[in-house]
Amino acid sequence: MTGAGGMVGREVVEVLQPHEVIALDHAALDVGDRDAVLGAIGVAHPDAIVHCAAMTAVDACESEPDKAFLVNALGVRFVMEAARRTGAYMVTLSTDYVFDGSQSEPYHEWDTPNPASVYGQSKLAGEFEIDLECAVVRTSWVIGRYGANMAKTVLRLAAGDSPMRFVDDQRGCPTVAADLATVLRTFVVERLPGTWHVTNQGAVSWFEFAGEVLRAAGHDPARVEPISTADLDPPRPAPRPANSVLDNRALRLAGRPLLPDFRESLPALVRAVR
Ligand SMILES: NC(=O)c1ccc[n+]([C@@H]2O[C@H](COP(=O)([O-])OP(=O)(O)OC[C@H]3O[C@@H](n4cnc5c(N)ncnc54)[C@H](OP(=O)(O)O)[C@@H]3O)[C@@H](O)[C@H]2O)c1
Repeated sequence: MTGAGGMVGREVVEVLQPHEVIALDHAALDVGDRDAVLGAIGVAHPDAIVHCAAMTAVDACESEPDKAFLVNALGVRFVMEAARRTGAYMVTLSTDYVFDGSQSEPYHEWDTPNPASVYGQSKLAGEFEIDLECAVVRTSWVIGRYGANMAKTVLRLAAGDSPMRFVDDQRGCPTVAADLATVLRTFVVERLPGTWHVTNQGAVSWFEFAGEVLRAAGHDPARVEPISTADLDPPRPAPRPANSVLDNRALRLAGRPLLPDFRESLPALVRAVR
């Protein structure tokens, strides 16, 4: 797998045990280097590849679009090419940012993407590189034990006495990396093809999310104040979708289990990171 040192990648490495896992982090494999990708995957000769490597710094993508497209679009092309050569199945991760967020209903897999940010554009370009027998899993608002994420930010702020203000006009489904990893394992085992939305259930604003994290940690949820995106000072370089809610329609219609409400997974996550 690629991106094995990231928030999702580290969980995937753990959940794929006891399978033999060749975990390539950024230092071991730069997915923007075609020769390196073909070499490493050619040697590893895996049955399946979980492609977690990506340039995920959304605002940095705005100022470094070439790097974003190299990693998030060409990187997928190179890994797909290596997978094709070795006969490996591949699942790649994508994002709610492929949608502009202007629709009032949750986005399903057959809605038309229209990314508003360089990050979203580069991730959508990566989706186009995936062969029909392989899979794209779009997820959203990932939180987890490893790396920086909003759950950890809320807990850090809660430990101090600085004001806690979160936007109330962006909605999405927080997704616990460990929960997502269990579904990625199913994709690998069953070699599921196609595009799928995989998130925890439970749509909230960031303001409501912060309140849920505080509640799960035994703090007073009233400590958090709602603000609007327009109040952010300084404004963020990359536009965020106002509606990031992904309807997991393909899973639902296929009769597959959906991930639980994120609130069910939050207490264990809070215990793990405190
Ligand atoms: N986090 C979210 O809220 C979210 C939401 C929707 C979709 N996703 C998608 O989920 C996937 C996993 O993201 P994540 O949340 O686990 O983010 P992450 O923690 O930033 O993990 C991404 C990993 O990719 C590595 N990487 C960056 N450039 C690379 C390159 N050129 N070659 C090889 N590795 C490289 C990073 O290493 P360095 O840190 O050393 O650069 C990092 O370890 C990504 O495809 C992301 O787009 C994430």
